[in-house]
Amino acid sequence: MGSITEAAADQPTAGLCAVVTGANKGIGLAIVCQLAERGVTVILTARDESRGTAAIRYLHSVGFTNVLFHQLDVRDPLSAASLARFLAGRFGKLDILVNNAGASGVIVNDEGLKALNIDPASWLSGKATNQVQGVIEHTYENAVVCVDTNYFGSKRVTEALLPLLRLSTSGARIVNVSSLRSELRRIPDEGIRAELSDVENLDEERIEKVLGRFLEDLKEGRLEAGGWPMMLPAYSMSKVALNAYTRVMARRCPEMRINCVHPGFVKTDINWNTGVETTEEGAKGPVMLALLPASGPSGHYFDKTTMAEF
Ligand SMILES: NC(=O)c1ccc[n+]([C@@H]2O[C@H](COP(=O)([O-])OP(=O)(O)OC[C@H]3O[C@@H](n4cnc5c(N)ncnc54)[C@H](OP(=O)(O)O)[C@@H]3O)[C@@H](O)[C@H]2O)c1
Repeated sequence: MGSITEAAADQPTAGLCAVVTGANKGIGLAIVCQLAERGVTVILTARDESRGTAAIRYLHSVGFTNVLFHQLDVRDPLSAASLARFLAGRFGKLDILVNNAGASGVIVNDEGLKALNIDPASWLSGKATNQVQGVIEHTYENAVVCVDTNYFGSKRVTEALLPLLRLSTSGARIVNVSSLRSELRRIPDEGIRAELSDVENLDEERIEKVLGRFLEDLKEGRLEAGGWPMMLPAYSMSKVALNAYTRVMARRCPEMRINCVHPGFVKTDINWNTGVETTEEGAKGPVMLALLPASGPSGHYFDKTTMAEF
C-alpha cells in the first residue's frame, strides 16, 4: 500500500457527492459500491434506464441507501445537460466525477476468441496482436462510436458538470478510467507520441486533430503505414486522447485533482471476459483517485494504485 492509498483511505467523505458513468455493471458498479461504503452519496448513471434501475434495486437490497439513479448516455449532450440540471436542483454541487463508461470499438467472434486461448501476458504486452486479427472486426463505424464514447463522451460529461464541480467546497476530483492501451510507448510513430506528450501546448483542438487523422487513416486502411497502434486501434487511441485531455484539464483547473487510471485486467464484458482480476480489484485505483487528499497529485496516469508513465 502506497502513501497515496493510505491518504485516500483517511479522507473525510461526509457530505460528498459523486457521479459514476456507465455504472450499471462491471468496474463502474464496483466503484459505486466502494464509494458508497465510504459514505459518499453516489449517483449511479447508465444509458439504459432499466439496466440502471436494476443495479440500484440490487444495491438497495444489499443495504446501500446512499445511492440513486440518473440516466446518462455519454454520447448524448441532452442527457448530460439533464443530469447537470438534476444535480444542481438536488445537491447544488458535485465533488467527484468518475468517467468510467467505455466501448471497445470492435466486433468480436466470442467463440473464435475463446478457442485461441490467449494468455493474459500476451494480451497485455500486445504480443497477441496478430493472433487476434482473425476474430476481431474493426469497422470505421465502430471506431467512431468508440472514440465518441471514450474520449468525446468523457469530455462532454466533464464540460456539462464542470460548473457544479467548481462549486465543490472540498476541491473536486475527476477520475478518467483509461487503459494500459493508452500508454504512449505503444504508439509506433514517434511524431504522434511527441505531439501527444507536448503537455505545454496540448489542448482539445490538437488532441482532436490527431483523432481526426487517425480515423481518416483507419477508413483508408492506412493504420500500419501511419504508425498507429494495431492492437485495438480505436480503443487505444481513444484512451490516449483521454489521457491527454486529463493533462489539459489538470493544468486548467489547478484547484481540482484530475487523474486517469488503468484499472487492471478485469474480467468484464468489455474484454469478452478475458480479464483475470475482479471488478472489486479494478475499482480500487479509481476510488483511491476519487478520494485523494487536497495535497494529492493531479494530471497523472496511474496503473491501478501506482503512479506510472503516460
Ligand atoms: N475490464 C478491463 O480489463 C479494463 C481494462 C482497462 C480499462 N477498462 C475500462 O474500464 C471502464 C469500465 O469497463 P468495464 O471493464 O467495467 O466494462 P463493462 O462491464 O463492459 O462496462 C462498460 C460500461 O460502459 C457503459 N457504456 C457504454 N457506452 C455507454 C454510453 N454511451 N453511455 C453510458 N454508458 C455507456 C456500459 O453500459 P451498457 O451496459 O448499457 O452497455 C457499461 O455500463 C471502461 O472505460 C474500460 O475501457 C477496463
